Amino acid sequence: MRKLITGMKISLDGKIEGAEGMADWVQAWSEDYGLMPQLDACLLGAGMYPGYERYWTAIQNEPDKPAWITGNAPTPAEIEWARFVARTPHYVLSNTLTSSEWPNTRFVRGLGEIADLKQQPGKDIYLVGGARTAASLIDAGLVDEVRLLVYPLIVGAGKALFAEMDRRRSLTLRQSEQLPDGRVSLSYAING
Ligand SMILES: NC(=O)c1ccc[n+]([C@@H]2O[C@H](COP(=O)([O-])OP(=O)(O)OC[C@H]3O[C@@H](n4cnc5c(N)ncnc54)[C@H](OP(=O)(O)O)[C@@H]3O)[C@@H](O)[C@H]2O)c1
Repeated sequence: MRKLITGMKISLDGKIEGAEGMADWVQAWSEDYGLMPQLDACLLGAGMYPGYERYWTAIQNEPDKPAWITGNAPTPAEIEWARFVARTPHYVLSNTLTSSEWPNTRFVRGLGEIADLKQQPGKDIYLVGGARTAASLIDAGLVDEVRLLVYPLIVGAGKALFAEMDRRRSLTLRQSEQLPDGRVSLSYAING
């Protein structure tokens, strides 16, 4: 069965964004978890999808311009991800959104459709976010792995990745690595 794997860039206190609604500690929004070769689909919540589409469309169209959100020139890894998303099916969990700018995006209306997606033949599926969707899918037992890039920062007020989880989940640490700038990469399998 295809795995569903989420990846998040979080502060030490588990925030995916600060009180102002941005993760301004993140310099680039590339997929930095080493997952790309094993993926052939992406899944997102409706909360983050419009901004995600806008961000990567801008980099696809104008890779030399500073990226919206970060204000930085897109990195080589961001340009690679912008190319990857252009050729990769995207699924958006939403009961309200009905249209997207990208031809390779379709909407899923419930968790049953995500369970079906995992049963289809193919490579793994990347759960891009956001927090509510990740928490809800972990609660439902649909997420197989969590990859975290932990930044050396306590954000305080903001949106916590696991704030809306209802159930306790035990994890198995698969990999840990210290990265430049005090970041730590952590990879966990979620136990059933
Ligand atoms: N730091 C990071 O690495 C990182 C990564 C990704 C995202 N983010 C941040 O995450 C934020 C968005 O997260 P979010 O939590 O606000 O929204 P979200 O998880 O992207 O989307 C939540 C929406 O998904 C839809 N939905 C349908 N079924 C659902 C279900 N079973 N469980 C949960 N949602 C369901 C609902 O919209 P409908 O009303 O349309 O049904 C709901 O309002 C963005 O601001 C983004 O910056 C950060």
